[in-house]
Amino acid sequence: MSKYKIAWMPGDGVGNDVMDAAKIVLDAMEFDAQYILADIGWEFWCTEGDPLPQRTIDILKETDCALFGAITSKPRDEAHEELAPELKDKGLVYFSPIVKLRQLFNLHTNLRPCKAYPGNPLNYRDDIDLVVFRENTEGMYGGVEFFPLPESVYDALCENPKMKKWKEVGLENVALSTRIMSKGGCTSICTQAFDYAKTHGRNSVTLLEKPNVLRETGGLMTRIFRDVAKNYEGIEAWEANIDAIMMWLVKNPQDYDVLVAENMFGDISSDLAAGLVGGLGFASAANIGDEYAVFEPTHGSAPKYAGKHVVNPIAMLLTVKLMFDWLGEDEHAANLESAVADVIAEGKVGTYDVKGRGNGNSTLEVAEEVARKVKALATA
Ligand code: IPM
Ligand code: MG
Repeated sequence: MSKYKIAWMPGDGVGNDVMDAAKIVLDAMEFDAQYILADIGWEFWCTEGDPLPQRTIDILKETDCALFGAITSKPRDEAHEELAPELKDKGLVYFSPIVKLRQLFNLHTNLRPCKAYPGNPLNYRDDIDLVVFRENTEGMYGGVEFFPLPESVYDALCENPKMKKWKEVGLENVALSTRIMSKGGCTSICTQAFDYAKTHGRNSVTLLEKPNVLRETGGLMTRIFRDVAKNYEGIEAWEANIDAIMMWLVKNPQDYDVLVAENMFGDISSDLAAGLVGGLGFASAANIGDEYAVFEPTHGSAPKYAGKHVVNPIAMLLTVKLMFDWLGEDEHAANLESAVADVIAEGKVGTYDVKGRGNGNSTLEVAEEVARKVKALATA
């Protein structure tokens, strides 16, 4: 019996390439786990009408956690177009499987570290070390949306007099997405951000919001952030409007530490933060719940590179490091991060995004180099 059972979900496109890289490193580390392949992604939408089949959910339920490569998502009409002929016109609607997984397993926290590893030529500055805490199940990702707008929904929203003007436009011309946030959701994400700051010796936590316009949701989050902050003496609590912080993060990223945001603002800011430390090829992520977690790098499936083994596996390898953290495998986590940092610092082996087009090593060569280093560290 292995110590861990891990759901193995390459997903779409380069998800497969980077998971191949993860396997090389996990095997080199002799990590005591059994990997259970689980179907997810575009292929299963096209052939079965469901990108997250029930059999995959069943596998997840009997594993400790999941490693996930990447996913392809397309807008509604394109998604319908690519369905197998016999599935067309059955009223099937595409919904992102990663968003569904976050909700189904209540993976309420998205942890996205963005650190400038020394020697990475793509660093915007060398002193950036940000950690984004993104609320992962609420806000604009709740999926409560309408088009056209039903009369009953319109009527209910007329509780607020500002709604009335939309009737003149014709409800058939109105689309509605919602941003629903709970006290519980806001409290949880703020508390985790401050807890992390405390346990990792961080100086500040910055809230990314827009309470001057989004008065109710942004207001709730801001009040809760202030309340939570009171319990963490010595950690500075800063507040920034989401637009302004995009500018400040580019101007003075070294001033920031832990960032906390609701779902959409966290989505946007974590891509910006990734861009400061080398781009999506370096950005790791963890979707964490109370009992289960799905580890998936921030990057997407990059279909044009699929199967070519050219994309950077570092984001995936640092994502495996987050999995080790979550499992309490601290030594593995430390060794893997050191190995990755060494490979970056030496700069001998790197993919095209680092070395320039035509000069890059393959995804697997980078993984093998990390594997060599991590083995040496484990036996040292
Ligand atoms: C991310 C991605 C997803 C999101 C997409 C693929 C649905 O951008 O994990 O940041 O928006 O959350
Ligand atoms: Mg995103």
